[in-house]
Amino acid sequence: MNIVILAAGMGKRMRSALPKVLHSLAGKPLLAHVIDTARTLSPTRLVVVVGHGADKVREAVGAPDVQFALQDRQLGTGHAVQQALPLLDPSVPTLVLYGDVPLTRASTLKRLIDAAGAERYGVLTVSVNDPTGYGRIVRDAAGKVKKIVEQKDASEEERRIAEINTGIVITPTRTLETWLASLKNNNAQGEFYLTDVVERAIDAGVEVVTAQPDAEWETLGVNSKIQLAELERIHQRNVANALLDAGVTLMDPARIDVRGTLECGADVTIDVNCVFEGRVTLADNVTIGPNCVLRDAVIGAGTRVDAYTHIEGGTTGANVVLGPYARLRPGAKLADEAHVGNFVEVKNAVLGHGSKANHLSYIGDSDIGARVNIGAGTITCNYDGANKHRTVIDDDVFVGSDTQLVAPVRVGRGVTIAAGTTVWKDVGEGELVLNEKTQVSKAGYKRPVKKKS
Ligand code: UD1
Ligand code: CA
Repeated sequence: MNIVILAAGMGKRMRSALPKVLHSLAGKPLLAHVIDTARTLSPTRLVVVVGHGADKVREAVGAPDVQFALQDRQLGTGHAVQQALPLLDPSVPTLVLYGDVPLTRASTLKRLIDAAGAERYGVLTVSVNDPTGYGRIVRDAAGKVKKIVEQKDASEEERRIAEINTGIVITPTRTLETWLASLKNNNAQGEFYLTDVVERAIDAGVEVVTAQPDAEWETLGVNSKIQLAELERIHQRNVANALLDAGVTLMDPARIDVRGTLECGADVTIDVNCVFEGRVTLADNVTIGPNCVLRDAVIGAGTRVDAYTHIEGGTTGANVVLGPYARLRPGAKLADEAHVGNFVEVKNAVLGHGSKANHLSYIGDSDIGARVNIGAGTITCNYDGANKHRTVIDDDVFVGSDTQLVAPVRVGRGVTIAAGTTVWKDVGEGELVLNEKTQVSKAGYKRPVKKKS
């Protein structure tokens, strides 16, 4: 099967410099949703018709399995499909999708594909309460499709028809070339309508069949930011329902956003206003507090992620405690039972089994062993202004509060670092390290007082 995705339109009503099909739904361009669905149908040719912002679109969704056809001027949906013809295999049917209709399910498309087979012309239709603006499906007395008439060309009577053209069609390909070449643009919009091909098919003795989606939202398109926002909510509701179905506890299914994939084990609980981006995996018994953002994260079983924690490219073992207000950045790896508390940032660093950094610290480019206690206000000074260097802290080290570790530096097993120490040389196993400072006290000191005016 060939699949052609129409994506040349400009989307004036989006009021944006970005081509319409590149606007994001669940963190992914609209067109990428359509391409991903198309891929699940294993097409032999996958062609995207581009026009407005063609270069940007190519760059955003280009892939070895996607070919592009350029429609320089947008002369209508029939004209758009015509531009793709040279790239299609004439011996198999062609399915036409829209780049701005992102939520169509593969199962719905399969139903249309099966109904049409190799010889018939298939139209995905749906009956709606308010058909305004859509092409109407005109049937004869026997219920056979006669034609599709656009809103702007329809009579009063035709406008009362509730069954509309979703725009998604499947057609034999060999005959398509002559059908498209014969289209006229003597209609209200002066366009070459793909919808007129239905009549060509009927004239050629080709049977026209229809199929319907499971849900109306599968066929909704995006023409404005309002419609984009509506589809985003529909999509997020579907994702939340799937999570609930899988046994995840959502404190409020209306207040979770998944912009990517979220895999959950058993007995996972997610509090309100969490955002999941990229690929996130939560193992059994994970609890996510309110207002967390997790991107590309793997969270081990029994781990508790408390409120306002941000994770971006981090992994944790089992029974870790994170937050509130913790931040993991790419390369953060926390072993089982580690604790990373409020206002602690961990980047490209390993924290060993049971190690704790509970307050106000920066741990970057570090290898930290097991059972290490990192006191409040500890900073790994990993950057010398030009290069990054590593800090290595062996097992059972006690790092006193307000310590700076000037990398590259190594702290041996069991070392104790006194509070307020700057460590710029390696420290041997079991040592106590401190900077000599003096505390000066002066008796009877008088603070300045504010002058009265
Ligand atoms: C089209 C259908 C209408 C159907 C509706 C469903 C036609 C003539 N009409 O109308 O029956 O009910 O979709 O939403 O087909 N595009 C191009 N090049 C063009 C014109 C359009 O690539 O020259 C693309 C657009 O970017 C869009 C899609 O085709 O993705 C549909 O175009 P649009 O102008 O929105 O068609 P409608 O008038 O809504
Ligand atoms: Ca449209």
